[in-house]
Amino acid sequence: MDIRYFDDRTALYTAVSEHFQQAVANGATTFGLATGGTMEPLYENLRNSDVDFSTCTSFNLDEYAGIDKNSPHSYYTYMHEQLFNAKPFAASYVPVGDADDVDAEARKYEALLQANKRHIQLLGVGENGHIAFNEPGTSFDSETHVIELTPSTREANARFFSSLDEVPTHAVTMGIASILDADEIILIACGENKRQAMEALVDGNVTVEVPVSILNNHPNVVIYTDLKLPVAI
Ligand code: GLP
Repeated sequence: MDIRYFDDRTALYTAVSEHFQQAVANGATTFGLATGGTMEPLYENLRNSDVDFSTCTSFNLDEYAGIDKNSPHSYYTYMHEQLFNAKPFAASYVPVGDADDVDAEARKYEALLQANKRHIQLLGVGENGHIAFNEPGTSFDSETHVIELTPSTREANARFFSSLDEVPTHAVTMGIASILDADEIILIACGENKRQAMEALVDGNVTVEVPVSILNNHPNVVIYTDLKLPVAI
């Protein structure tokens, strides 16, 4: 793993957006995208850059289940506000959270992913080590599926809703195998609340109890972080 430490967040996000722009210049066309507060400064940089995604395709990691895509809380809305309205892709896919049959939607999404290997997969990490919405205990072989969110994830994400009760209980998420099937993974982790998960990652012990730890098994991971972490072996 290539760990890039920045004590200055502006410099960190400048570096990540340059990484993206360089990837496009080098011919990357298929991107896995992520949501969350962590990604907002990156998307702001990309919105303000001259990057052109108009010949690229994107696949988002996840979506809340049972939520209308036009809801202000959906990841579909988040992505349009944060990136797609300003920087449209040729095609952008976000799982449909309110499909009549969410399990069928998950299978359909997985088939799309398997036909479109990502050149770059962007990732954040949850406080409990989840990636996308793969909560602790999720199989490393998992494909896109419906998952029940843990109380701690719902609490961590309640800041985006008016109350905890409004936070959906389930989500459709790329599985861990789906995430790993990318040529390169870029993980961004900022803030002390991510320290425990990140220390578990660089510790090198791969365990389903800390989903992000599986990145130790991927050959091409770049981590952008403002946390001083023990050096990985
Ligand atoms: C959600 C998303 C994850 C994201 C995590 C952290 O749970 N499903 O993809 O990494 O939140 O979000 P934040 O960046 O807001 O801390």
